[in-house]
Amino acid sequence: MEQKTVLSGIQPTGKLHLGRYFGAIQNWVKLQPEYHCIYSIVNYHAMTMPYQIKDLVPATWELAFDLIACGLKPENLFIQSLVPEHAELFWVFNTMTGYGELKKMTQFKDKSTQVNERGKDEVISSGLYTYPVLQAADILIYRAHYVPVGKDQEQHLELTRNIAQRFNFLTGKDFFELPEPLFTEVPKVMSTADPTRKMSASQGEKHHIDLFATPERITKQIKSAVTDAGDTHQGHMSPGVENLFRLLKASERADDYHQLMESFDQGKLQYGHLKEVVARALIEMTEPIRQRKQTIIIDKKRVKEQIRASSAEMRQRAQKTSHEVKELVGLLNVRF
Ligand code: TRP
Repeated sequence: MEQKTVLSGIQPTGKLHLGRYFGAIQNWVKLQPEYHCIYSIVNYHAMTMPYQIKDLVPATWELAFDLIACGLKPENLFIQSLVPEHAELFWVFNTMTGYGELKKMTQFKDKSTQVNERGKDEVISSGLYTYPVLQAADILIYRAHYVPVGKDQEQHLELTRNIAQRFNFLTGKDFFELPEPLFTEVPKVMSTADPTRKMSASQGEKHHIDLFATPERITKQIKSAVTDAGDTHQGHMSPGVENLFRLLKASERADDYHQLMESFDQGKLQYGHLKEVVARALIEMTEPIRQRKQTIIIDKKRVKEQIRASSAEMRQRAQKTSHEVKELVGLLNVRF
């Protein structure tokens, strides 16, 4: 039987930290043996929020190296802007998407608030508003069956399905299959400095642990993790302690996890000890990733060539869909 296609995208903004690793990348790596996986570095999307032009190209390559170091196969990874057909399909889909539909997107509301908070010189772009339509193009152009998504992307996937249905209706063809979300249990890692907030690069240094941080830095950040904020009465776990346990589980230390959980239940857990175990687990888990990154950096040129080649291959597939779409919607087509 033919393997089903899984597709997902990641923006080249900010560094890879443990929140992004545990929340998505670790899962992407695990899906590779079972599915035909397509992962995209979505640099068109990264332009929807205010950004520094000079940083985008280096950030795109850096993320490619990081993802490969995490275990993504270079042949499964491509760069969105090397397949401009995404932008072309985006236009077609824009004409089939209701203005009112986009108005309901909660991520737009969140992100436009963030833009406003950056100051009055920043503009909320129409790109930010229509970005879910580009995401629909990313997914449908390869006829993906499954999209591993977090809760924050659920609404965008629903929109993708609506767009596919509308396209099929308007063209009278069963052209696009409707993609399904692939919900896998992924841990939601919080900031160790403020365990009531999600781990995030935009909140500053203290609020995220870099996936490529040195062992010393990891130890320091875990040691200073907040454990006593919030409700800490007997038998109740504070958000900070809960987050440390979550990190332990995410680094696949089931034995340590159960053992320490038992101490906690018996009221015998020393937070200092918990922190030591978590720091060690994270250092050991990230060690091979750090090492692979070193190797990749030495051979940067070759890795870039690989990504360029896989992007060219993806482009061929995208062009096929794009040609068919243009024919179906009544656009003159250039074949080459
Ligand atoms: N919107 C996603 C995010 O912000 C990134 C993304 C772009 C994506 N295109 C996609 C995710 C296609 C899944 C499928 O995280």
